Amino acid sequence: MRSFPTDFAWGSATSAYQIEGAWQEGGKGPSVWDAFSHTPGKVANGDTGDVACDHYHRVRQDVALMAEAGLKAYRFSIAWARIQPSGTGAPNPEGLRFYSDLIDALLARGITPYVTLHHWDLPLALETDLGGWLSPRMAEVFADYARICFDAFGDRVCHWITLNEPWVTAINGYGNGLFAPGRVSTDEPYRAAHEMLRAHGAAAEVYHRDFQAAQGGVIGMANNCDWREPATDSPADRGAAQRALEFYLGWFADPLYHGDYPISMRARLGDRLPTFSDEDRSRIRGSADFFGLNHYTTHLVADGEGASDPASNAGIVEDQGLRLLVDPAWPVTAMGWPVVPDGLRSLLLWIDARYDRPPVVITENGCASHDAVVDGAVDDAFRIDYVRGYLGACHEAIEAGVDLRGYFLWSLLDNFEWASGYAKRFGLHHVDFATLARTPKASARWYRDVIARGGLPAALGGDGGSARPTDVPFHWRSGVGLTS
Ligand code: GAL
Repeated sequence: MRSFPTDFAWGSATSAYQIEGAWQEGGKGPSVWDAFSHTPGKVANGDTGDVACDHYHRVRQDVALMAEAGLKAYRFSIAWARIQPSGTGAPNPEGLRFYSDLIDALLARGITPYVTLHHWDLPLALETDLGGWLSPRMAEVFADYARICFDAFGDRVCHWITLNEPWVTAINGYGNGLFAPGRVSTDEPYRAAHEMLRAHGAAAEVYHRDFQAAQGGVIGMANNCDWREPATDSPADRGAAQRALEFYLGWFADPLYHGDYPISMRARLGDRLPTFSDEDRSRIRGSADFFGLNHYTTHLVADGEGASDPASNAGIVEDQGLRLLVDPAWPVTAMGWPVVPDGLRSLLLWIDARYDRPPVVITENGCASHDAVVDGAVDDAFRIDYVRGYLGACHEAIEAGVDLRGYFLWSLLDNFEWASGYAKRFGLHHVDFATLARTPKASARWYRDVIARGGLPAALGGDGGSARPTDVPFHWRSGVGLTS
């Protein structure tokens, strides 16, 4: 038996725009994702989040699904435009009530809420009037919004996440234009990221100063990072892999833990990378009570010049001086993302060393697979294998000393997968988007058993599953058969 800590937060995650629908109900204002998905050509198949999973109207049913899946914790996001329809000003009582009721329903089932304040659906007025995340005013605007939420929900919510994946907003929202607000630039990603860090710092300061003592909770950020493994053992490739991690996770986590951007970023970007004032720096450093990590996949890294490929989650590789590669032997998910559980263990160890043993919560991990309902059931053996492998890697990291506190499987439901629309299914529960019927997949039952047992069976026996790629750690370092 591979047991996890007894108070481990076994959870699943969603976000508001991806599941709620009801885009014009309850006094909600429009968000940048409403505008973006309504723009022809931006989302596959012309899909929008107008209805999504209709969670707004089915919230009780969905909380019941969580309880049936045995979840101990649930991570969801608040749609800022439900609370403040134009991003500033007095809170909308209907919006407050919706989330307050959700929190009460979770607590009544013994499910701990983990609340993300902002998961990409910025109130549209902040984009049109202020310039969105490019505006230095966003720190105070975000802190005001955060205060409303701490005030309304902090008596019952003890786990806060300020921002989800600022890297994605910066790169896909302001760099390659794949996500809202759809801007294309090589400089704006660094400016937008800077304002998001300042906004996080301002909100965390409000929490720490005005709420934490009375409410007793914690606050952090959810950063995404995939593992970057050197393509060969050469010093150049090893350096490139380290640089790739610094441009990815270090971009956000170094300011949080060390008070400034990585030296490698400053060296390569010069003035394109903004500078923190002393006040910003002291607000941001030490502002995260835990390290939220979203992780999905691994790539190999080779030193040298590469060209940016938006699909690869590489960021602006021209700025990094490297190329990403994959081993063709790796299985891939329906997103085309390689399945490499050992990458998660490596990343957790990297975080542990670089940030001096922070408490870590995996705020997202999961996969898209080709799931269909057959005779009322969904056999998603692919997802079970994926999660088993990645949980195994988590267990190895815990054994190696990483202070891992929780794991949130993305996602509770099949949902609106951003620019991919409804074509990619990440859920523990299948959603028929014509009828909105939910069907638990085999993985929901499997996960319930894992949670009930508090861990995984022993490595290769019983339900332990097949050997993972970790059994031959990074054998592809030989460089044989690499394709970019
Ligand atoms: C994350 C994101 C989620 C979800 C997931 C799967 O980047 O936070 O909203 O879409 O990826 O792609």
